[in-house]
Amino acid sequence: MAGLPPKARASFARGRCVRGTYAPSDRAKEITKSCSFTKPSRVLARFSVEGSLRTNDTLLRGFSFRLGSDGQRSEILTQSAPVHFARTLEQMLAFIRARIPGPDGQPDLAKIEAFSAANPETLHQASYIAAHPPPASLACTTYWGVHAFPATNSKGETRFIKFKVTPVGEQTTEVKLRIKSAELLHDDLESRIAARDIRFSVMALLDHPGDPVMDVTMRWPDENGREAVRLGTIVITGVAANDTFFNPATLAEGISYPPDEMFAARRAAYAISQARRR
Ligand code: HEM
Repeated sequence: MAGLPPKARASFARGRCVRGTYAPSDRAKEITKSCSFTKPSRVLARFSVEGSLRTNDTLLRGFSFRLGSDGQRSEILTQSAPVHFARTLEQMLAFIRARIPGPDGQPDLAKIEAFSAANPETLHQASYIAAHPPPASLACTTYWGVHAFPATNSKGETRFIKFKVTPVGEQTTEVKLRIKSAELLHDDLESRIAARDIRFSVMALLDHPGDPVMDVTMRWPDENGREAVRLGTIVITGVAANDTFFNPATLAEGISYPPDEMFAARRAAYAISQARRR
């Protein structure tokens, strides 16, 4: 549907790989015993933009990162919206099918509208993006892990957390402006890396009893006002070769797989996509 060349990623196809460091906060251990979050490590990451090559739309962005060292690695894939566009796999496939361009190269708007009316939760992501246009830089964007991840601390206590990755420093005050070109976003990224200007807090939003942990189209009630613990800080220090694969199924002990249907599908989908790309 996106008109991507062979071997491109199935989504978030345009991006840049980068490297950096992770430093844990003093409070990380309260949330998880995962060595990848409680110990300092090198980081391999990738900033990306979602969207079709035809429209050059860059409104949804991705940030994937790998923390930890041998045997204790975790890969967290985040995007610049707190919700996914579909609750079930069947709905995701129907959402994509409804947008396949016709013979004239244009999608059928009536079909999309009918699908949206019958599946209102598939509009939550687009509504969020419309109300919160992303800032001009990938480095100033806030990213979410979307799913509810069970996190177990060293006392053996388990609770759900959501990952939120927030930019640190003056950059966050930058004027909000829509940039539609992926190239400009990547140029901006590279100049900020050279200036050592990219730093993020990795936050854990803490659950409350009764939170909807099975539905990736819903935020938790008053999610913005939630208690959040900073697990650590990522500093981006350089560009890396563009040959990295990220898989959300890679999680070191202390953070477990989210229980929803979409994450179960992702555990298989990335490996299939990557095998085909190789
Ligand atoms: C629910 C929230 C989701 C988030 C935050 C998310 C995030 C991402 C990101 C950031 C990438 C780019 C990875 C990179 O930089 O290398 C990606 C790629 C991809 N995503 Fe997702 N995704 C989500 C849901 C899904 C679902 C439900 C599926 C399928 C069932 C899926 C399938 C894929 C595939 C196949 C790729 C390409 C992988 C590759 O070839 O390397 N994603 N996703």
